[in-house]
Amino acid sequence: MTGKLRWKGFLWLAIFIPISVLLFLLGTRDFSLSVSRHLDFFQDTFQGSRFISVQEFSHMNGPPLESLERCESPLRIYMYDLPRKFNLGMVKKVADQEKPWGKERVPSWPLRSGLKRQHSVEYWMMLSLLNPVAGNSSDSVAVRVHNPLEADLFFVPFFSSLSFNTHGVNMLDPETEKDRLLQVDVVEFLKKSPWYQRSGGRDHVLVVHHPNAFRFMRELLNTSIFIVADFGRFPHDVAWLGKDIVAPYYHMVEKYENDNVTDPFRARTTLLFFRGQTRRKDEGKIRLKFASLLQNQSMVVYEESSAKDGVQLSTEGMRLSRFCLSPAGDTPSSCRLFDAIVSHCVPVIVSDKIELPFEDELNYQEFCLFFSVEEALRPGYLLGILKTFPRRRWIKMWQKLKLVSHHFEYQYPVQKDDAVNMIWKQARRKLPTVRLAIHRSKRLKIPDWWHW
Ligand SMILES: *[C@@H]1O[C@H](CO)[C@@H](O)[C@H](O)[C@H]1NC(C)=O
Ligand SMILES: *[C@@H]1O[C@H](CO)[C@@H](O)[C@H](O)[C@H]1NC(C)=O
Ligand SMILES: *[C@@H]1O[C@H](CO)[C@@H](O)[C@H](O)[C@H]1NC(C)=O
Ligand SMILES: *[C@@H]1O[C@H](CO)[C@@H](O)[C@H](O)[C@H]1NC(C)=O
Repeated sequence: MTGKLRWKGFLWLAIFIPISVLLFLLGTRDFSLSVSRHLDFFQDTFQGSRFISVQEFSHMNGPPLESLERCESPLRIYMYDLPRKFNLGMVKKVADQEKPWGKERVPSWPLRSGLKRQHSVEYWMMLSLLNPVAGNSSDSVAVRVHNPLEADLFFVPFFSSLSFNTHGVNMLDPETEKDRLLQVDVVEFLKKSPWYQRSGGRDHVLVVHHPNAFRFMRELLNTSIFIVADFGRFPHDVAWLGKDIVAPYYHMVEKYENDNVTDPFRARTTLLFFRGQTRRKDEGKIRLKFASLLQNQSMVVYEESSAKDGVQLSTEGMRLSRFCLSPAGDTPSSCRLFDAIVSHCVPVIVSDKIELPFEDELNYQEFCLFFSVEEALRPGYLLGILKTFPRRRWIKMWQKLKLVSHHFEYQYPVQKDDAVNMIWKQARRKLPTVRLAIHRSKRLKIPDWWHW
């Protein structure tokens, strides 16, 4: 009798100990990474067996696509030698605006450029290709090739957002003509390029991040891969999710590096934070309606301010808040979402048509809350949910924010999995579709009947 019991006890221990060790290891990040690295091994070993499902593993362990790509060689990019007036010559006025940027030191992004910096994606993308010796090229997903025949993709280094913000920002100003002429020149240049002609532009990448960037001519480049903030101001046959890449804004507030308090839930004394412009166009009109729902509520900060003042106040406010409201602005996306992420303040997204960067790798529901506009305007609904939000669930989201925020950093030299590398990875995933479209288009005898 006792012998049988002891035997049963051993059996239970023999099952229990390995399982708890496995569960513990799964909880640690390094092990998760190593598991995803060994996914192929699992796949080979257990294929067809019901012992373990690879899908389950890949679901638990970060980006599954990464593991599939790990053996791939770097993405080869040919960058056109456009005159510097199209790119870095706008960051720093230098002589010889007609010369392409060469091996000279690149001008650093001007510190006080405020709003312009939100859309500086084009600058960081160009730098990642321009002068890789200055950085650590082993960290870069993309490498520059000087022979177009070796290229996977072609990068057009035109700073279309900076051109708009520099010359065209008043829309009516005669200065805006300068922005338009640069656009005309880029289009002419591309249409003459044998490489553009070869692919019909499909393997060309252009950064069009500001909603008004390239506004006069972009429709003519409708086959190319655009890097955008969102699709708010694009016709659906010019830019769409399948063809293009959504990239984060460069955040305005400083990233929160030492967010190590022992009880962040308690340390953050504001429940919901919003500071910004409340008078916006289109879907952004909800911001005014929020004012009447959220102003003067306890533990809620809802303040009107212009974008120029108060980056410091927003930085402090977000770090002291559990949730940060991220409503639509003039377009579905806004910089505020990325400010919240780098402040580890759980974003509350109210923007029905928003598209999010890198959404094939990131599951935003792990670190953001989503409300439809209709839900958010129901009196008491949103605040009711936030007020009773379980502490443990919030802590999990906060921890996740700390793990993902490096994906939203633009920097030079690039670092592993930072914003620029994430964008290049997105571009790499477009390659099969791009090649398919190019090959098909060459042999078709009648106009294409699919919408690409
Ligand atoms: C690049 O990174 C590798 C590995 O992280 C390191 O060993 C090497 O020293 C770095 N090189 C430069 C130039 O920073
Ligand atoms: C797409 O570009 C082509 C060629 O540049 C142009 O003729 C066409 O009108 C554009 N389509 C749209 C929907 O703008
Ligand atoms: C906070 O944690 C980070 C790593 O997450 C570490 O680099 C930093 O030194 C820590 N700071 C403090 C003040 O403990
Ligand atoms: C909030 O309080 C301020 C000052 O007491 C007042 O001026 C404002 O109208 C109030 N807002 C709402 C939406 O009640």
